[in-house]
Order: sequence, then structure tokens, then C-alpha cells
Amino acid sequence: VRIFVPVDAAALSVGAEAVAQAIASEATKRGLSVEIVRNGSRGMLWLEPLVEVETAEGRIAYGPVAAKDVPSLFDADFASGGAHPLRLGKTEELDWMKRQQRLTFERVGVIDPLSIADYRAYGGFKGLEKALSLTGGEIVDAVKASGLRGRGGAGFPTGIKWKTVHDASATQKYIVCNADEGDSGTFADRMLFEGDPYLVIEGMTIAAIAVGATRGYIYLRSEYPHAHRTLQRAILKAEAAGLIGASVLGSQHAFHLEVRLGAGAYICGEETSLLESLEGKRAVVRAKPPLPALQGLFGKPTVVNNVLSFAAVPWIMDHGAQAYADCGMGRSRGTLPIQLGGNVRRGGLVELAFGISLREIIEDMGGGTLSGRPIRAVQVGGPLGAYLTAGQLDVQMDYEALAAMRAMLGHGGIVVFDDSVDMARQARFAMEFCAKESCGKCTPCRIGATRGVEVMDRIIAGTEVPENIAVLRDLSKLMIDASLCAMGGLTPMPVLSALDHFPEDFDRPPLPLA
Ligand code: NAI
Ligand code: SF4
Repeated sequence: VRIFVPVDAAALSVGAEAVAQAIASEATKRGLSVEIVRNGSRGMLWLEPLVEVETAEGRIAYGPVAAKDVPSLFDADFASGGAHPLRLGKTEELDWMKRQQRLTFERVGVIDPLSIADYRAYGGFKGLEKALSLTGGEIVDAVKASGLRGRGGAGFPTGIKWKTVHDASATQKYIVCNADEGDSGTFADRMLFEGDPYLVIEGMTIAAIAVGATRGYIYLRSEYPHAHRTLQRAILKAEAAGLIGASVLGSQHAFHLEVRLGAGAYICGEETSLLESLEGKRAVVRAKPPLPALQGLFGKPTVVNNVLSFAAVPWIMDHGAQAYADCGMGRSRGTLPIQLGGNVRRGGLVELAFGISLREIIEDMGGGTLSGRPIRAVQVGGPLGAYLTAGQLDVQMDYEALAAMRAMLGHGGIVVFDDSVDMARQARFAMEFCAKESCGKCTPCRIGATRGVEVMDRIIAGTEVPENIAVLRDLSKLMIDASLCAMGGLTPMPVLSALDHFPEDFDRPPLPLA
């Protein structure tokens, strides 16, 4: 009997390890033979630890399971899918799962993350095999035709980025995976590494073959120890199995891959400061141009892509560019792994084709606020993303649709707030975040954010509010126009959206400072 207990960090944080141990010892006590598989999370985080058992009719889910529930689960013969108050039914039939279109996350929670046999059994390495039968240019053309855009947040066409690196002539080229997932409310990269690490390895290897690179680095945020461990093991196993290393699947292509731990600052996720950090220096932003595609790591042509961008590629190579391009809307093709969190009843990972509305995600999938109070604000796209109002929830998840309302999709994080939120304090938080995380290279961001916090404090204290709001707007304009990178350039987005959409929180009797 195979029993699945997630090893995902979110599941571990609510007791999955104790549940796995309780199942093992209870089985021994009862003389039953069970195989406990430590899988990734299905993304239904409110149901973790979610235990699944393999039965003749499919995988049956139980959750959320605590270690103390384990004896009663055995009493109910859960290993055969027996009835129990925690029985949820067939995993694939659960509403949350059925509504999704999982391309990138198709194996997460399904397979044993470190089993190459499992990975292959569920279609793994087919994309790589296909890529090995093509020229670099043909791979680039397929990625271009799929319409895939950078999933780190900027939405730049991946195929065009790869073409720039492909066309550059150099003795050495690099593939760098940006896994410094720093946006608040995002966790898709982590879940993928913990649940299906070979997928990113496969995607990076395809990129290497496409552009002619022989070395790759995964820059992983240091706050992800579980993902780090899984990735390290996966790379060693992939090398031992001849999937990467001196020869990729027996071909003439070499691809050596290493993980590097991030230096612990938000700005390390900005691609040029990430490259500085990878080179062993302080993570200070480089001016662009030159683009990393032409002069990246150690000055060589480098593909820098987010985890989810690389992870989309094996599916595209296996199923064809058109199949990927067939989902989505407008210029946003394919699917988007959405991370739903904050004050929401059902939070977690949802993968859907572009075009679904924010309302459908929050109300249908998320079940509204956890507090039961009305939604007042929703921040999309991380700490530099705009705050939207309850009246704007019909916007479709699409890069251009969000940009048209002066918001951004970013890395797909959605954080919900109920009507107890104080938007002036949220605006202050954005400035404070920038002041703390600024790399310090340019004045509008380094000094501007510090002055921004001071101005916000005066507004919150009720001091000369109209005059200080005018200063805040002026300062925001300067930061947008003159900052060197997105950190300083985007910080005004949450500030101005709070000011424009929730003016009543900025001009009212003074509140005590927190
Ligand atoms: P960008 O628009 O400057 O560049 C996007 C990408 O396209 C870069 O990799 C750039 O090098 C590349 N590029 C541009 N023109 C190119 C060309 N002609 N050939 C080849 N490559 C080309 O945006 P940036 O500054 O890299 O990213 C900003 C975004 O990052 C924001 O919109 C935000 O959503 C996102 N972000 C994501 C975070 C996360 O944790 N995932 C954290 C903070 C921001
Ligand atoms: Fe550094 Fe901020 Fe300037 Fe970006 S905007 S280069 S983070 S000081």
C-alpha cells in the first residue's frame, strides 16, 4: 500500500513529519506493510497535512490530518480508502483540483519528487528528448511560438531572450535560474523544487542546448532549506543517471549544474545584482545595457530566467508550442501558477490559463475572506504591486489588463485584505520595505524611500496632510522616473494605488503610530 504524506515545507510547518512518523509506527504496531511516499503538496494548503492513499479507484485524500488522527484512520481502513470524517474523496475530483489546468504543476504532489522513474513515468524528459533532436535555433523558435513570457514578473518573451543568447558568439555561455523568490505571498518556485525538481533541471538543460551553454546555476534563496536539500539530491541523481553532466542523455551536449544559496536580500532577485552575488560580490544592481543576455555572468552571454519560465519549457517541447499557445488570452499565453494568500479561506497554489478573473480566483477558489468580513483590498504581484479595490476584482489575469489599471501581475502572488486593513499603513510599509531593501546604488531609491517613510509618518500623524500628500506624489514621480531598477521604480505603485483608491485612509484624524 502506498501512502503519500507531503514533505513540502508548508505541510511540514503544520505537522506533516509527525503524521508520517505516526503512520509508520501505527503500521508496524498493527503488522501492516505500507510504503510511505513523501510527495510535494497538491497546493490545497488549508488541507495540509493532506494524506493520500493509492487505491484501485484512484488516489483518496484525507485531511487535514494530525498525528492523533492516525490510529482512527487505521481503524477505518484508510489504506483501502475507508470512510472517515477526514476523508475528502478522490484527490483529482476535488473542486480545487478539477477547476485547474495544471501543465507546469502536473506532477507536483503526484510523484515522489526524487524518483527519476516516477518522473519518467509521468512524461518527464520527453521534452528534453525532443529538444535533442532539434537544432538550437529550432528550440528557440518553438519557445517563441509558444508565446511563453518571463514568469518572474516582467513578462518579457522568453524565446526572444533565448534568441539573443543563441545569436551571441562566445566561448562560454551560462544558464542562470532565478530562484530568489522574494515577493511576499509567493511560493510557487519553492513548491516546484520541493515537489518536482527534475522539471526545472530539464527546462534549464533544454535552454542550455538551445543557446549553446554548458554551465548552469540555480540561485536559490537561502530561506528555502527544504528546497535546497531536494535540489541538491536531484542534481546528484540526475548526474549519476547521465541526464546532465559531461553528456546530456548520451548526446554530445554537456551541461553542468550547481545550486548557489542567495545572500538574503530582496534585491538579490533583481537579475543583475543576482549575477553580482553569483560572482561572489555584494548584490548591487548593474546598469543595463549591457543586457545579461549579451554580458551576464562573468561578462558572458547568459540566459537568466525565473524557475517557472524554465519549468514551462519541457511541456512546450513535449506537447508542441501550439498546444501551449492555445491557452490564455491576448498576449498572455499558456498558464499561470497563481499563489493565493492573505486573508482568504482557502489559500494555496492554483494553476490556470491566463484570462480568469481575480474575483473567480478569490471567491470561487479561495472562498472569500477567512475572517468572513468584506474584501477591501487585494495586492497582486508582490510588495511592489498595486492594491486593487473590491470593485476592481473583475480584472482578468493578464499582463496587459493589469497594466491598463496601473497594476501588475508580477510573479502571480495575490494577497487578500478585509475591511480592517489600514491602507495608509500599507503605503508606509511599501516605502519602509524599499528603504530596507534598497541596494543603495541610486539616490531616488536610497534617499527617496527613507524620505517617503518620513512623509508617510507625518501623514499618519495628521500633520499638514494635503501638503504632505503632495510631497508624497512628487517623490513617487521622481522615484518612478529616475530609479535605476524596478525596486525604486515600482515602490510608488502600491503607494499611489493606496492613495488613489483609498484616499479616506490618508486624510482623517491622527492614528497612534504602531
Ligand atoms: P525588465 O523589463 O528590465 O527585463 C525583463 C527581462 O528581459 C530581463 O531579463 C532583461 O534582461 C530581458 N531583456 C530585455 N530586453 C531584452 C532583449 N532585447 N534581449 C534579451 N533580453 C532582454 O524587467 P526586470 O527589471 O528584469 O524585472 C522587473 C520585474 O520583476 C517587475 O515587473 C516585477 O514584477 C518583477 N519582480 C519579481 C520578483 C520575484 O520575486 N519574482 C521580485 C521583484 C520584482
Ligand atoms: Fe539599487 Fe534601488 Fe537604485 Fe535599484 S532603484 S539600483 S535597488 S538603489
